[in-house]
Parts: sequence; C-alpha cells; structure tokens
Amino acid sequence: MTTITRADCEARDRADPLASFRERFALPEGIVYLDGNSLGALPKAAALRVKHAVEREWGADLIKSWNVHRWIDLPQRAGAKIARLVGAKASEVIVADSTSVNLFKMLAAALRMRPGRRVILSEPGNFPTDLYVAQGLIEMLGDRPGGKLELKLVPGEQIVGALDDAALGADVAVVSLTHVNYKSGRIHDMAAVTAKAHAAGALMLWDLAHSAGALPVDLGAAKADFAVGCGYKYLNGGPGAPAFLFVAERHQAAIRPPLAGWMGHAHPFTFDVGYEPAPGIARNLCGTPPVLSMSALDAALDVMLEADMGALRAKSLALGDLFLALVEQRCAAHGFRNGSAARHERGSQVGLLHPEGYAIMQALIARGVIGDFRAPDMLRFGFAPLYNRYAEVWDAVDALASVMDTRAWDTPQFKARAAVT
Ligand SMILES: Cc1ncc(COP(=O)(O)O)c(C=O)c1O
Repeated sequence: MTTITRADCEARDRADPLASFRERFALPEGIVYLDGNSLGALPKAAALRVKHAVEREWGADLIKSWNVHRWIDLPQRAGAKIARLVGAKASEVIVADSTSVNLFKMLAAALRMRPGRRVILSEPGNFPTDLYVAQGLIEMLGDRPGGKLELKLVPGEQIVGALDDAALGADVAVVSLTHVNYKSGRIHDMAAVTAKAHAAGALMLWDLAHSAGALPVDLGAAKADFAVGCGYKYLNGGPGAPAFLFVAERHQAAIRPPLAGWMGHAHPFTFDVGYEPAPGIARNLCGTPPVLSMSALDAALDVMLEADMGALRAKSLALGDLFLALVEQRCAAHGFRNGSAARHERGSQVGLLHPEGYAIMQALIARGVIGDFRAPDMLRFGFAPLYNRYAEVWDAVDALASVMDTRAWDTPQFKARAAVT
C-alpha cells in the first residue's frame, strides 16, 4: 500500500469540483469539523438571512412581514427546496416542527390508513426517538379491534424477511425505518424495502435525518409513502432547525392530522369553530412556523441546491475512504475496530470502535478535531462534502494518531461524561 501524504490530500483539494463551497461557510480557523451529521456548519448566507429577518422583517416591517416577506408560506417554499434533494414533488414536502413530532404525525396517519392492522415494524438499531414516538403513540391509541397495537423490532437486515412472513406481514400497518443508520451509517435499500412493505400491504415511512443533503434520495422512484427528516444536520439549517415531512401526493387527501392546528386548516384566517383540513401537504402543519430558524434553513438550502448531488456523493465516499485508509496507515496498532458500514452501503459517516472511545473523542476535540461519540464505544466522524477538505481528513487522523501515540486521552478530564456526547 502506498503511503498517503498530506501533499496528496492537498492535491485532491485542488482538483475538487466542490472546493469553492468551503468559503460559503463560516468555519473557525484551526478546527477540523467532522460533525456535520449532527449539526451542520453555518452558511454565511444563513447568517445574513437571519440578520435580515430579525432587523428588517421583524424589526422594521413587523407583522406586515407575514404577507410582505411571505413568512406565511415559508414552510411550503422551504419544503419545495428540500423536495428537490429527496426526489419528491414540491407539493409533497413541507417544513414544520421537529423530526420527532413529524414522526408522530406520520405514524398516526399511517395507523389510521391501515385500521385492520396492529404492528409498527422497525429495527432495534433505529434512532431512539423513532422508537419512543412509536411507543408513545401506541400507548395513547390503546387497543384495536384486531388486538393490541405493537411496535415490533427485528434487526435491520431481517426486515425484508419479516415482511415475507405471511402472518406478520398481514398485520403490519407501517414499516418505520431510518434510511441511513445514525450509528453504523448503513443505508437501507429504500426501493427494495418499500416494495416489500407494499407487497405486504403495509405503508412505508422513512426517516431521512442522515440522508437529506448527504446522498441522492429518490422517494418518488421508491414509491415511499411518508418521510421525515432533520433540518440541522446535512441541510445546515442551524441548531434546532425545523424539520420536514413528506407525504406522497396519492395519500395527502386521506390524512386526518392528529395535531389539527390552525396552520393546517383550510382557511386559518376565517377562524372557524370546526376544523377543516387544508388541501394537500399544508394540513400537516400545526402551529405558527418558527420564522427565524426557518429563514436560516431556507437560506442554507439555497447553498446546497447549487451543488451537484452526484458530486457530493462521490466526494463524501472519497472522504470516508481516505479517513479509513489513513486510520489503517497511522493507527493500526491502537486497537480500533471499523464500525462503519461496507462502502457500497455507507452513508456520509464512518465509525471507529474503541473501548476508550469517549475519552479519545474528548482528547481529539481538545485538539480541534470535532467528531462525536455514540455509546457504548463509537467515535463517529461525519463528512460534509460541501465544506470538508481532504487535507482536513489528513489532519484529523494525524491528531488521532498523536492522541493514541501519547495516550493523551488517558486523563480523568477526558473521561468525565458531558450531557451531550
Ligand atoms: C435518525 C434520527 N431521527 C431523528 C432525530 C432527532 O430528531 P429531533 O430533531 O426531533 O430531535 C435524530 C437526531 O439525531 C436522528 O439521528
């Protein structure tokens, strides 16, 4: 194996067709940021947009801005931008609430559309909020005529087989999965799993938290029924950015929103006593949109939409490959195990497993290399091809090698767990 040098990585940066996007982000000097899969970096355009939204729209134009600056249809406008990233029609996506709340809405809709069935099928490795929301909803809804509602969990690779099981398959109302696993980064075959769910008569809900903006997604081609996703990860919408939801056009009229708020009413400003759902995707809104954070997301989406998704995917894989090759080159003696998915089914992140993973990550962060830690033992590194550089990957592994060679992680300071890991 030929040795990879920093100069090699710099040469790749010079040849990178996405290189110019880096300067569109406000990244601090001296930091290697490999956590865009948790909180995307700040697009300079988002900062400017928020300043405008605060000072001009809110400060000067006050409540007129609902019409003048079209705050009122910002959820639809931002949703239409996300639609382009996930293979949906503009009218199928809307920005609202958090991913967790949108999961609740979509699972509730799906259960309602399959009244004779009792099972939400998912996997134990799904992101916990996806499982908790399902548990809470089941508890709230109680029993069905056919028996008790149930969240059934089978390992991800057995989902398709479980749907083939005639007795179970006939009982599944909705299959709820995260497209790219938050820990392993493993990608489910969206089209194949969706087809299996449909063959069993079930609906399919995809969580795109680690997919949207990270890799090509085609909800339309896969014939997905529902989807949700985060605004603050690869979409760079800022901390706590509003999330999005997708409902295939063919289902929109059938949805009776469980959170029937006035923003999802057909005529919010007639102030009717009775609820009449808005036509189309808008009925999935509940309350007033968070205009400032949605403005940040909307501006961030414009930056992402300038990039070619094929180029993003190619660079994302190349950054991950480089990272893993450098870890092998520099850290082979340090007991890391590769916790990443196989290349052909890997999202935009890699994971290294080590019993001292938490302390090692803290020591790395102290050196300016920011990834994160997922219990019990995973150091997680996300690659955001819009702003990460190949040379940064080299620097990150250089810092990791140094942390390991010097045992810099082995101090009580780095072993004390913070609230957010
Ligand atoms: C797959 C997945 N779904 C949902 C969430 C969180 O959703 P929320 O924005 O509601 O906290 C995360 C957060 O990391 C996630 O990874």
